[in-house]
Amino acid sequence: MALLQYSSEPINRCGGAIINDRWILTAAHCINSAGPVKVLLGDLNIATTTEESTQYPPRVYNVEKAIKHPEYKRVFRGNGKGLFNDIALVKLTERISISPVMKPLCISDSSRLASDLDGQQVYVAGWGATEFAGPTEALMQWARINVTRHAQCQETYSRQNTAVDNTQICANGENDLGGVDTCRGDSGGPLMERRNHRNRLTWYAAGVVSFGSGCGNVNFPGVYTHVESFLDWIGCTVAKD
Ligand code: ARG
Repeated sequence: MALLQYSSEPINRCGGAIINDRWILTAAHCINSAGPVKVLLGDLNIATTTEESTQYPPRVYNVEKAIKHPEYKRVFRGNGKGLFNDIALVKLTERISISPVMKPLCISDSSRLASDLDGQQVYVAGWGATEFAGPTEALMQWARINVTRHAQCQETYSRQNTAVDNTQICANGENDLGGVDTCRGDSGGPLMERRNHRNRLTWYAAGVVSFGSGCGNVNFPGVYTHVESFLDWIGCTVAKD
């Protein structure tokens, strides 16, 4: 998990994921004139400076550049309202020292359709708010949620004239207290899937936190950029640079 930091308040606005020793995967709507300028890695509680692990202390890295998907767009009017191609890559000025607390999240080498993930169990994490309009959290939170049936999510959001296309997936959960969801401040963070890779359960990027309607509304799942729809762009961008 990465925490993106900006040059103006609020300093912490978005999450991200390490994908190799130089690059962070995040959302395009997390890139603006204020940053991110820095990325905090290896931390859990951002309010304390007593390191969770003295062997592998948290560290702040500087951002060399941030690249938004060239077709990132926000559509405000009409029936096709929405946020599309909400994905970005952030390059750090130096190599991350990969450790047990700073490891890359795997990216698949082949893509499935968004609807192939229907019903799948996935995980989210971040320092975002735990309720709509609430404060963000100092201690990183995580949750296990489920991918919503794609057709059902499209139908749900069409009631708000918001389009959800095949490069997006939706997910949420429910517990005794109500809906389980990402919220403000979690954007850009990864939606993760555990998959078998060479006989080991391995964490893979399934999505990137993009938007929602309120937070934790059981009828409105969170919407995530479907990472496997952007494998070529991720691969080319990282390889070129
Ligand atoms: N756009 C929000 C952010 O900037 C993330 C919203 C996710 N919302 C949701 N209900 N799942 O942090």
